[in-house]
Amino acid sequence: MNPMLTVDDLKVSFPTRTGLIEAVRGVSFTLGRERLGIVGESGSGKSQTGRAIMGLTPAHAKVTAGKLNFDGIDLLTAPAKVRRSLRGSRIAMILQDPKYSLNPVMSIGRQIVETLRTHENVSKREARDRAIAMLEAVQIRDPARVFDLHPHEVSGGMGQRAMIAMMLIAGPELLIADEPTSALDVTVQLDVVRILDKLVSERGMGLIFISHDLRLVSSFCDRVIVMYAGRIVEEIAASELSNARHPYTQGLLNCMPTLGTDRHPLPVLDRKPEWAA
Ligand SMILES: Nc1ncnc2c1ncn2[C@@H]1O[C@H](COP(=O)(O)OP(=O)(O)O)[C@@H](O)[C@H]1O
Ligand SMILES: [Mg+2]
Repeated sequence: MNPMLTVDDLKVSFPTRTGLIEAVRGVSFTLGRERLGIVGESGSGKSQTGRAIMGLTPAHAKVTAGKLNFDGIDLLTAPAKVRRSLRGSRIAMILQDPKYSLNPVMSIGRQIVETLRTHENVSKREARDRAIAMLEAVQIRDPARVFDLHPHEVSGGMGQRAMIAMMLIAGPELLIADEPTSALDVTVQLDVVRILDKLVSERGMGLIFISHDLRLVSSFCDRVIVMYAGRIVEEIAASELSNARHPYTQGLLNCMPTLGTDRHPLPVLDRKPEWAA
């Protein structure tokens, strides 16, 4: 069976006055209806990989690939109109901070309703019912009340759940979550991850979960890609992480604090120039 998503030799670069910044330098992977984690430190090219799939790369960036294919659609050559209609309906992306994704002057409910009605021909009444059901699915208590609130009237955790509801309302097949919990408190982080995990398995979606937190990613993804300086340095089943071969992955594992142990100071990752070769 063909995978839902094929990424082959993806490159994203930014021409600047001082030269070319190569953000992604030849990334390849495939994805089915499974949960794939992408981890790596800040600047390793995780977001630009997600954005290239989503078609949200900045206009001045150069994107090339041997193949960038979603369900038989060549994303590299697809007209802008096709890419726009894929976004939100079949491929959705959740970003780190709901502040930048929710419209501050529109009620949460109306944003979800409008998203749904952009992609599906449903009555206002049905859209409202489905939006409220979706708010309930992301475990917002009293969804009918939250429906009428504006983003600034809810907590960060609730805003992030509302964002997830908005992104999932049209029933996408592929969800790209780019550090969706980094702006949240640790306890709320786990709630949001659990909700995402449940929705992804119930709806049979493919998930790309981007994070710098190897522990979080390995706790619920099936497979993990480790990026360093724009490249994949290791791809490994989450259950096999303790057998990771690349020293960078091992370093990330060693830098994770473990509950109950008392290591002072935490080991610092000792980067080698050849990892970025
Ligand atoms: N609009 C841009 N213009 C120039 N360089 C950029 C731009 N966006 C990202 N980059 C560069 O691309 C690299 C990878 O960025 P990104 O994919 O956001 O990393 P990550 O998500 O892993 O933190 C970084 O070095 C970053 O500085
Ligand atoms: Mg990022």
